[in-house]
Amino acid sequence: MNKLSLPSRRLTRTLALVAGTLISQAALAAPAWITLSADALAVLQRMVPQTQVVGTAQTPVAVPLSARSPALQTRSETVHAVEIDEQWIEMLSLMVHRELARCGGFVHHASQAEALATLHRLSLADAQPSAVGPAPSYAIDNPKEVQALLPLMQGSHLLATVDGLAAFQNRRHTSSHGVAASDWLADKWRALVPVGRKGVRVTQISHSGYPQKSVMLEIVGSTRAHESVVLGGHLDSIASGTVEGARAPGADDNASGIAALTEIIRVMMAGNYVPSRTLRFIGYAAEEVGLRGSSDIAADFLTRSEQVMGVLQLDMTAFQGDSTDIWLYTDYTSALQNTFLAQLVNKYLPIYSVGYSACGYACSDHASWHNRGFRASFPHEASNANYNRTIHTLNDTTATFGNSSAHMLKFAQLGLVYAVELGSLPRGVRGAVALGN
Ligand code: BES
Ligand code: ZN
Repeated sequence: MNKLSLPSRRLTRTLALVAGTLISQAALAAPAWITLSADALAVLQRMVPQTQVVGTAQTPVAVPLSARSPALQTRSETVHAVEIDEQWIEMLSLMVHRELARCGGFVHHASQAEALATLHRLSLADAQPSAVGPAPSYAIDNPKEVQALLPLMQGSHLLATVDGLAAFQNRRHTSSHGVAASDWLADKWRALVPVGRKGVRVTQISHSGYPQKSVMLEIVGSTRAHESVVLGGHLDSIASGTVEGARAPGADDNASGIAALTEIIRVMMAGNYVPSRTLRFIGYAAEEVGLRGSSDIAADFLTRSEQVMGVLQLDMTAFQGDSTDIWLYTDYTSALQNTFLAQLVNKYLPIYSVGYSACGYACSDHASWHNRGFRASFPHEASNANYNRTIHTLNDTTATFGNSSAHMLKFAQLGLVYAVELGSLPRGVRGAVALGN
């Protein structure tokens, strides 16, 4: 994160001391549970020495051996669950930035039981998810549909969505602006659906503990409506230490991902496209405070009879950090589905180069799905070494990416071909009964 936007080291120390004193004097006013890595726990324990660790697990994390190939090395990571007062979570985020020079990477849980259930799942987890049934065939055999829709994509629409979202003072999960931004997106998606078009619904999903809603547009599948493909990105934005009125444009993080989703929807509606499987486009609330919206939604999908065939996360698509175009993050994602994405680029978008990188912790909503056994992928604008340092500051504006839609367009195109190919059945089984593999 941009160091300039952070309070001084001395100020964060003082705040931490005050936090520690207050916490030691009173029972937790608003208890919350987070899971976090061992190094982030060490930061928290320096800040609040009496932090209660309620559980610990080891989990496999797959990291690329090199940026140039999908070959992976699996590391074992320690994850702790702790009880913390809700109000100190943002300070923890500041302290982790300050002391570890990276983002916080903690996941929020509504109860101790939920935090412990997550640890349990992580301890059993394979680095590769499997809880959701057999993998799809990943056949790439819809060139006609893809070629009909791809040319409809337009950079000007991508920029218009980014501008619309960045115009909100911030999109914080607790602020009136964050609530209004969710309503704006729901209206925008509704307006893309032609009058008389059947099988398309836009809904807003409420969460407990904060007023911002997630937004979902679904296109019901023609022959396999109970099988779905999820494309998502977070709609909230944050700036370090932000309050109700603080400026957090979040143009790259993550108006740019929502813009790509919106353009995919626009093109599918303009082309009157009907998938075989149900497509779900989701703008998640409250990602920036521990993946809260997506955790609720992924947990809910575990209880449904609908089978989620794959999940694509678009979070930061506008800022080109390296000469490589599309970076597939290998941790908290499915290697199988990542291979499918690389093949899609190869077949339909061969001018774009693909690299491999990793956050090293649960850094975006794909982890909410992965941690529950769903196959998720996270194509990103940059390697983790060269990500946009203006995120989470008031400088995360379109100016940081030269007001250009060029990089965003690549991710909108990839999302489109992913949705069309995974949203349809392999040629051999279209109209037939079961899809075996
Ligand atoms: N878009 C970022 C994640 C990110 C940043 C990915 C840089 C790759 C490079 C996301 O919005 C974010 O800020 N995530 C938090 C973690 C979350 C669980 C609070 C982070 O990274 O600290
Ligand atoms: Zn962020």
